[in-house]
Order: sequence, then C-alpha cells, then structure tokens
Amino acid sequence: MGMQQSSAPIETISVVNGDHTGTTVIKNQKTIMKKLLILGCSLLAAAALTASATDARENYEKACAKCHGKEGKGDTKMGQKLGIRDYTDAKVQAGFTDDAAFKAVKEGVKDKDGKTVMKAAEGLSDDDMKALVSLVRGFKK
Ligand code: HEC
Repeated sequence: MGMQQSSAPIETISVVNGDHTGTTVIKNQKTIMKKLLILGCSLLAAAALTASATDARENYEKACAKCHGKEGKGDTKMGQKLGIRDYTDAKVQAGFTDDAAFKAVKEGVKDKDGKTVMKAAEGLSDDDMKALVSLVRGFKK
C-alpha cells in the first residue's frame, strides 16, 4: 500500500511534465501564428502596392502611351506631330512641377493658340492621376 501511494505522485509528476510539453508546443504555435500574421500583413501590403502600380501602368498604356510613348519618350506618331517632349530627359522633367503635371492630367493641355493638344483624363480619380504623375516622373533617366 505504501508502495502504491508513493508511485501515484510520480505518475502525477509525469502528467505535469506532459502538460508542460504541451504548453511549450502551444507557445510555439502562437509564435508561428504571429509570424504568419506578420507575413500575411506584409504580403497584403505588397499586393496593395503592386495593385496600384499595375493600375497606373494600365491607365498609362490605355490613356497616355499613344502620345507619350510606352517609356515616356514621346516618340510616337502623335507625339511627334504634337511636339511632345522626352520625359526621360532630366531637363524636361525639371521643367514642370508635380502640381503642373497633375493639372495637365486632370484638366488637359492647350497649345498657345488655345487648341487642346491633350484632353483631360476621363474616368480617373485624383489618386489615379497622382499615381500617373509618379509614373511619368519615373521615366526620368
Ligand atoms: C493626344 C495626345 C496626348 C495624350 C493622350 C496625353 N498627353 Fe500628356 N501631353 C500631350 C501634349 C501635347 C503635352 C504638352 C507638350 C509636352 O509636355 O511635351 C502633354 C503634356 C503632358 C505633361 C506635362 C505637363 C507640363 O506641365 O509640362 C504631363 C505630365 C502629361 N502630359 C501626362 C500625361 C498623362 C499621364 C496622360 C494619360 C492620362 C497623357 N499625358 C495623355 C499630349 C497627350
């Protein structure tokens, strides 16, 4: 009987040890979950950034490239006809402000005779247009 009583506490200890191991596993899982969560969040942020960059690129190709050229050189038929400047040229980039560029996209551009040479962008939000200005800035070599 004495032997049985003394073996019972030993069993209890081993159960406690088992629990302890269990707790460690749970803690590790929490750490993993945390890491996954952080990873998930940064992936989401990256996806959001990529999405807006893609949108700007898409908008540019749809609404701007036929005049300004895919790389902003203005080396298209329309670009040559309208005398569009080369936006890969740092001097040309220095020749206008972000505000002016934004205004050009939003309100369009007229030549000195008052003839519209670039139409106001249609169906784009202010954020879309700001993204386009950044994209145009990015043409600078
Ligand atoms: C029909 C042709 C045409 C289209 C389409 C066009 N542009 Fe232009 N854009 C011009 C012309 C012409 C100018 C004035 C000459 C120049 O800046 O080289 C100009 C000027 C600009 C300028 C310079 C403004 C400044 O202050 O000097 C920016 C920036 C610009 N365009 C961006 C865009 C963006 C972004 C789009 C698409 C949403 C676009 N353009 C679509 C013809 C066009």
